[in-house]
Amino acid sequence: MSRKQTWILLRIIPLVLVFWLVLVTVLHSGLVFPRSDPPPSSSFHQQLGSTSTPPRRLNAETNGPESAAWAPVVFSTCEPWMSPTSAPCQAKVLGPQVVVGEEVVFDDFEIREPVFLNSTYRNLWIAKVTSPTADFHGRMHFLHNGFARYTAQVGQTYVIDKGVYRGIPRADKLAGLLQPAHTGRSALFAASPDSWSFQHFLDRTTHLVIQASEHLDDSTDMIVGRISREPAVVEMWDRAFGVNRSRLVTGTYATDRLVWSCQSVLVHPYFELRFAELMGVARNQPMKRRKKVLYLSRNTSTRNGGRRIVNEEDELLPRLRELLKTRRQREELVVFDHSKIGSMKSIVEYFADVRAIVGPHGSAFHIHRWAPKDTLVVEFVPSDRFQILWWEESHQLGQIYAPFVLESLNSTSHDMRAPANDIATFLDANLGKTNVGPILRHYK
Ligand SMILES: *[C@@H]1O[C@H](CO)[C@@H](O)[C@H](O)[C@H]1NC(C)=O
Ligand SMILES: *[C@@H]1O[C@H](CO)[C@@H](O)[C@H](O)[C@H]1NC(C)=O
Ligand SMILES: *[C@@H]1O[C@H](CO)[C@@H](O)[C@H](O)[C@H]1NC(C)=O
Ligand SMILES: *[C@@H]1O[C@H](CO)[C@@H](O)[C@H](O)[C@H]1NC(C)=O
Repeated sequence: MSRKQTWILLRIIPLVLVFWLVLVTVLHSGLVFPRSDPPPSSSFHQQLGSTSTPPRRLNAETNGPESAAWAPVVFSTCEPWMSPTSAPCQAKVLGPQVVVGEEVVFDDFEIREPVFLNSTYRNLWIAKVTSPTADFHGRMHFLHNGFARYTAQVGQTYVIDKGVYRGIPRADKLAGLLQPAHTGRSALFAASPDSWSFQHFLDRTTHLVIQASEHLDDSTDMIVGRISREPAVVEMWDRAFGVNRSRLVTGTYATDRLVWSCQSVLVHPYFELRFAELMGVARNQPMKRRKKVLYLSRNTSTRNGGRRIVNEEDELLPRLRELLKTRRQREELVVFDHSKIGSMKSIVEYFADVRAIVGPHGSAFHIHRWAPKDTLVVEFVPSDRFQILWWEESHQLGQIYAPFVLESLNSTSHDMRAPANDIATFLDANLGKTNVGPILRHYK
């Protein structure tokens, strides 16, 4: 090594070290948890009254009683106080082809922490949910007063005159291949990753459609992912949105009016409640008429395997059956098999009788949406594959969530051993209870 090279190296090493230290400090401080509580994000709301067109609640004409209380506020004219990146101001800059630009401002909200058998189980869960390395802090702020807060959530919807979708980005990896180019009067870009699947149709696509509802009519085509969708998804398009298969298209599309929910929100009660209404869920079915305790096994018909309960057949299920018998309330343990029920219509009707849903973490839990308010949702969460999704979703629907964080027996499959007696004790104390106190509330 020449003297010059050595000299350069000696200069560079400290610089790299300093840079690394700064980076680590910044990254780390970004993860420090919790920070101070965020204030309500009502800067838009505080301006109410100073817009030339009064802001309105989204879908005010069509919302049901529950979703009406959570409908976001829509701002559609660009005001001097608005950020230039807000949709109404963007629309002005983008030119006359952009005929609508709406800033959709969602109400801030809080959900209560789950219920637990005792403080030992609670501590396990709290440690996971507040861990600085967890990935959901961007959307949720845990308050340590028994609630978690979601603030400052905003969507943007645009309508583009003579809009063309050129198939980029592709709606999914098969979308558009060998598909004819479409033309039509109006279309919504309704694709999101894996939107053909039951799970992501529910948690993403429905949000795009509900947010854009005011701009859709019964001839609007839906630009979605690959054509071989799950039959349940095709059925939900029809049942909830009145869109039959002939209006689900993929590939390039030239239209008189292209509707685009350019930005939306992943976690908000408005979408959950509105979709439950659209699907005709028996939200208010009285508890005394609900007798089914559904058990969601992962032994059969799971797409990705794993998360089996190793003592399910010989210990857990017999213990739960015995419990229900001794309670003498005509409660019935059902190992749920959706293939035995068939259409979405009959599944939704079936869930009117559900009192509780119990099982290991898995996408089967999506069915909790069809159950009424106050349904007890008991999830066995593998300690090394911790998720909060079913807590967020069930509490947004006023259901009661109870996690048991259990040790992952294998690092890849996350099989678990269920503490059968603890679960039975918990169910005995909580089955059939209707919720006391707020589980979901506005934050103002
Ligand atoms: C909670 O329940 C578990 C299992 O029954 C028990 O081991 C633990 O000691 C209990 N914790 C408290 C604080 O009572
Ligand atoms: C879908 O709707 C179109 C137009 O209303 C109608 O012609 C067609 O028969 C419907 N298809 C199905 C499968 O219901
Ligand atoms: C599911 O699989 C596990 C592990 O193979 C087994 O121990 C359990 O009994 C099975 N449960 C049912 C309901 O078949
Ligand atoms: C995971 O661990 C359990 C218990 O040790 C064992 O019964 C099961 O076969 C393992 N599963 C896999 C996929 O390794």
